[in-house]
Amino acid sequence: MIDDVLIQWSPETLRAVLADDLEQAELMVVSNREPYAHEWVNDRVELQMPASGLVSALDPVMRAFAGTWIAYGGGSADREAVDSSDCLGVPPHDPHYRLRRVWLTKQQHDGHYSGLSNEGLWPLCHIAFARPTFRASDWDAYREVNRRFAAVVAEEAETANPVVLVQDYHFSLLPGMIRDLMPAATILTFWHIPWPNAEQFGVCPWHKQILDGLLGSSIVGFHTGLHCSNFLDCVDRFVECRIDRQAGTIHREGHTTSVNAYPISIPWPAQAEHLSRSTARELVGRRYDIPDRIKLIAGVERLDYTKGIIERLRAVETLLESRPEWIGRIVMAQVASPSRSNLPAYQRLRRECTELVDCINARYGRGAYRPVLWLERHHSRAAVDELLAAADICVVSSLHDGMNLVAKEFVAARHEDEGVLILSPFTGASQELVDALLVNPYDTVDMAEAMHRALTMPPEEQAERMRSMREVVRSNNVYRWAGRMLLDAVQARRRNGHASNGQAQNGTSVWGS
Ligand code: G6P
Repeated sequence: MIDDVLIQWSPETLRAVLADDLEQAELMVVSNREPYAHEWVNDRVELQMPASGLVSALDPVMRAFAGTWIAYGGGSADREAVDSSDCLGVPPHDPHYRLRRVWLTKQQHDGHYSGLSNEGLWPLCHIAFARPTFRASDWDAYREVNRRFAAVVAEEAETANPVVLVQDYHFSLLPGMIRDLMPAATILTFWHIPWPNAEQFGVCPWHKQILDGLLGSSIVGFHTGLHCSNFLDCVDRFVECRIDRQAGTIHREGHTTSVNAYPISIPWPAQAEHLSRSTARELVGRRYDIPDRIKLIAGVERLDYTKGIIERLRAVETLLESRPEWIGRIVMAQVASPSRSNLPAYQRLRRECTELVDCINARYGRGAYRPVLWLERHHSRAAVDELLAAADICVVSSLHDGMNLVAKEFVAARHEDEGVLILSPFTGASQELVDALLVNPYDTVDMAEAMHRALTMPPEEQAERMRSMREVVRSNNVYRWAGRMLLDAVQARRRNGHASNGQAQNGTSVWGS
């Protein structure tokens, strides 16, 4: 058996380790968000990579392996860029794998994505005290869209036993549906957001069906052991089955599902590796008119209520109030990528944030100086990398987050070993990045003090903490995340005797749609 800890994971080792086993296997990914979107911008088609942790983690893996990625074609110019089978090679300038776009009606998209996924499951799974909304019509659309994607997987599959990587809460029913259509498939489902405890999960009117769907998977993956254990508790409470807690397996009617933690990560070395701190600071300073003497604090997220953006702005306000010596000497540059902006909860958040930014800037601005730079627009990967490389401090203050890749991206961008990460303990990342300044985002005074501590931290301490965090991200990089999952998938495939003949050996299907 291969010991994944001993491997220096990279695209090359990933390919080499899995070459024999995956050579004849067909690799497919299914997600709602597509890795590349074509958008109309002022009569021109622009290629965009959406702000999604899932996309930034899986794209390098698919580049290493090839295969087919199936996703909703949500870009306004997406139809212009596909061939007659709704496919295109991506990345378009240097194709490594195939993207199959799936079209949905507005009603399907509204019910599946905006409704059940983002007004129901998203608040259900995050402890952010946002009340989930469950509408029967959204559930109908959610099932319909999951069924549609199952049909596309079957249509795209060239073999009877592909390895299908199902992504996230948009597709909880998909594993069971694929299992019905292709009993020999190896289905690895990764849940990118937290999984709640059984009491909380039970409020979802369709909790039983969702678990049934997920149990069609060969493997279900989460970021942390706690989320695995919450999931097992839910299955224990709501599903008739046998659970082996030690092994992390669920046995039901002749089928076994393994439950495992795979902490997601980022490529290493990072793309920003070539950027020196001083070049990046100069570029960013020129772009936003921030003089060199000013310390730069960065925040990079989608404009989402789970990210604790309000909380961090309040901490900046408290810092300037309690330690006025920082007025005129710091700028908080906050990237807020527009996200789910048709939903009332997101519109409210936007209003609250912009009001608070205006208020802080009115109170503490002096002449041309503004303490908060509110950057509400889509940012390219390169622009985000520049900001992270230029910053003195990065604040990740999520109220709850499955992993949070920005924390890891900041660490990866610090190849000169300076800079301080302020990190919420309610992120999966905090379990690995223990040398960050860990602060409860609800504690405004503490977070303001952490900012002061970060701003005054001696370079030796910065370097010591950063070196150790960089080592963690270097060794636990995204290729390891994918490698561990795929090695487990290969084993599951072997156990089921599907490796070469593609014949199903499971009992009768129990995953109704
Ligand atoms: C989270 C989810 C992803 C999602 C991303 C962006 O990271 O886990 O599945 O793609 O947010 O959200 P969006 O709704 O824009 O896809």
